[in-house]
Amino acid sequence: VTAPDPERVRVRQGAAEGSVWIGSGILAAAERFLVSPSRRLLLFSSAAAEAAVEPLRRALGARVILDRVVDDREAAKTLVTVSRIVDEALQAGLRRDDALVAVGGGVVTDVVGFAAAIALRGVMWNAVPTTTAGMADAAVGGKTGVNHVLGKNLIGSFHPPAAILVDPAALTTLPERDYRAGLVEAFKAAWIADPDLAGPASRRLPALLSRDENELLALIAGAVRIKAEIVSADPRESDRRRLLNFGHTLGHAFEAAGGFELRHGEAVAWGIAAALEVSRRRAGLPAEEADAVRRALIQLGPFPSPRREPEMLASLLARDKKTTAGGLASVLLERIGRARVDETVSAAEWLEAAAIMSLS
Ligand SMILES: NC(=O)c1ccc[n+]([C@@H]2O[C@H](COP(=O)([O-])OP(=O)(O)OC[C@H]3O[C@@H](n4cnc5c(N)ncnc54)[C@H](O)[C@@H]3O)[C@@H](O)[C@H]2O)c1
Ligand SMILES: [Zn+2]
Repeated sequence: VTAPDPERVRVRQGAAEGSVWIGSGILAAAERFLVSPSRRLLLFSSAAAEAAVEPLRRALGARVILDRVVDDREAAKTLVTVSRIVDEALQAGLRRDDALVAVGGGVVTDVVGFAAAIALRGVMWNAVPTTTAGMADAAVGGKTGVNHVLGKNLIGSFHPPAAILVDPAALTTLPERDYRAGLVEAFKAAWIADPDLAGPASRRLPALLSRDENELLALIAGAVRIKAEIVSADPRESDRRRLLNFGHTLGHAFEAAGGFELRHGEAVAWGIAAALEVSRRRAGLPAEEADAVRRALIQLGPFPSPRREPEMLASLLARDKKTTAGGLASVLLERIGRARVDETVSAAEWLEAAAIMSLS
């Protein structure tokens, strides 16, 4: 194995400090990057993530004291699955100084991270995201948890991983649709915070879409730096962290309205398309910048159209858990690279934007 030279991004959240390691080939050298006070590791992975688990097993050898598959269907993102993970870890002799490793998409990192938060009142964990969405977003920031029948992600805990390993090798088997949908979240980070990341990444979209590793690593590293900076400044959900919800006001509604057959990133792409309309009117976003964002989304697509019946969207918007006493916490783009939260945008304005948005 050639010695990889990964990039390191530090994430500081209260007392917890974590590192995101980003580079080609780091899974094959995972023993250098995964953290466990006892050196012992318990591996929990998606059955689909074998491409990432295989090099981990080889690199870690006898340090792995348990190696289990986790059901990673969104419908299995429940307390029952977390309970099963905790059972397996305890039966394997989990000690307080051991650490878990989650290998998979956002579902796996969310449930395994939550199991780590509650097993023995909290043990360390590491994340090995195997989807573009997981790399750019879900694995970073410390939110862990599961769904409830009343809504998504309603149960959970802030429990940041000690290390996150981002290696393009983990994506080799990822279907095209998931690959593209996850990149929407990476671009989202660039659009709210970094024009110097967004511009070049948009120009190099063809290379990104043909999975050029250098382009992918540049974009993911940029997105991780932005998320790390935002959550480090603001580990709990309030001011700046809310900017990460750009495109999510309607995005969550589209996701729910579509009966969840839209990928999260696809729903967010449509949510961003709508947010461009509102941002043009309310936040002075220049027309040419709105067009630049739209053109990038079009290249990342095509995305299946969401259902847009106003009555249905209205009731879903009203249920959004991000609704505050002041109204919807809408994220608007002033310029590419500069976003703000605006609590004065009405649901009616969002519905109008949903009616006129287009990605063609
Ligand atoms: N904690 C957070 O801050 C945060 C942020 C964003 C999203 N999330 C959560 O993340 C979840 C979505 O994550 P996701 O988009 O990664 O989806 P996912 O975990 O559902 O994975 C998508 C699909 O890809 C498969 N897969 C994963 N890795 C693969 C690989 N390397 N090769 C082939 N197939 C693979 C999975 O089995 C699944 O079918 C949601 O539950 C969402 O709530 C959490
Ligand atoms: Zn998202």
